[in-house]
Amino acid sequence: MLVLGIETSCDETGLAVYDSERGLVAHTLYSQVKLHAEYGGVVPELASRDHVRKILPMLNKVLEEAGVNKSQLEGIAYTAGPGLMGALMVGGAMGTALGFALDIPVIGVHHMEGHLLAPMLEDKPPAFPFVALLVSGGHTQLVSVTGIGEYELLGESVDDAAGEAFDKTAKLLDLDYPGGPVLAAMADRGQIDRFSFPRPMTDRPGLDFSFSGLKTFTRNLIEKNRGDDVLPDDQTILDICAGFQEAVVDTLVIKCTRAVRQAKMKTLVIAGGVSANTRLRHKLEVALGKEGVEVFYARHEFCTDNGAMIAYAGCQRLLAGQKNPLLISATPRWPLDQLTSLVQENV
Ligand code: KG4
Ligand code: ZN
Repeated sequence: MLVLGIETSCDETGLAVYDSERGLVAHTLYSQVKLHAEYGGVVPELASRDHVRKILPMLNKVLEEAGVNKSQLEGIAYTAGPGLMGALMVGGAMGTALGFALDIPVIGVHHMEGHLLAPMLEDKPPAFPFVALLVSGGHTQLVSVTGIGEYELLGESVDDAAGEAFDKTAKLLDLDYPGGPVLAAMADRGQIDRFSFPRPMTDRPGLDFSFSGLKTFTRNLIEKNRGDDVLPDDQTILDICAGFQEAVVDTLVIKCTRAVRQAKMKTLVIAGGVSANTRLRHKLEVALGKEGVEVFYARHEFCTDNGAMIAYAGCQRLLAGQKNPLLISATPRWPLDQLTSLVQENV
């Protein structure tokens, strides 16, 4: 089945063509980072308008790169949530209109299911069942996954998501936008143990996370270590980045270890923007390797938002016979464990 995937939930326009026989055929991505940089965060209305500007030229581009004519498409998958309402509406409107015009099925995909399944696009995909750590700008969740749509929430952040904590801490340190990856790059040049950051909620049982305290800890460190300027010296900033990143990574590693033990699973999948973090990947592989657990993740460009993961997830659901009515579906808040399993839909 040849499926077009459309991602417009936040500040990236992503389109992809996925074939259930041949795998990923083509994908294209446009990031609005420059547009939002001067505001230090995503401005929803600007995001929607920019998706409108980019989506049609990008549709033509991805079809051309795939060597595919619109009439050859057999299904459309678009991100239906969670995300920004206006931004979701753009992908939903184009997907639904195309489906209507071509008389092919259309499916609204859960953005986090897209992330969760992104490692399936790699040469060596993980096999079910597994524990998934979803770490993005909006979510930090540990999920037990027994099949597509079979998700049981094991734990989640009670306040900031891991990516959000990276972004907010980067803002406190006056780093360039978008802060998360910039902070991560600076952390590699800092001293990990100069400041002893806490590992929040690791000293009690359970699989929930809390990251907002690390931000406060950083704010206090800045206050204590600043010189004549409003910010500490360059080396101190690098050391704060390193200490902060290590605290987030260690906390995630401790909870992942606990989760795979509790679920008695031998596979861990990490997905979402923060799964691009090389320190996290490394420390997880070392710690979970000792438990006999293998760690899987997507290539860098498919950790953050993209159309390929939506095309893949949508294709699996379309193949199982699921589809949306020809109404634009946009659900800004949508719990992952409300999704239906493929098996149930098929009977
Ligand atoms: O999955 P994603 O692209 O968008 C959401 O669905 O939220 O994730 C974006 C998040 C941002 O918070 C960004 O700072 C974070 O992922 N991120 C990183 C890295 N690359 C992206 N955080 C830490 N280290 C990175 N290398
Ligand atoms: Zn995302």
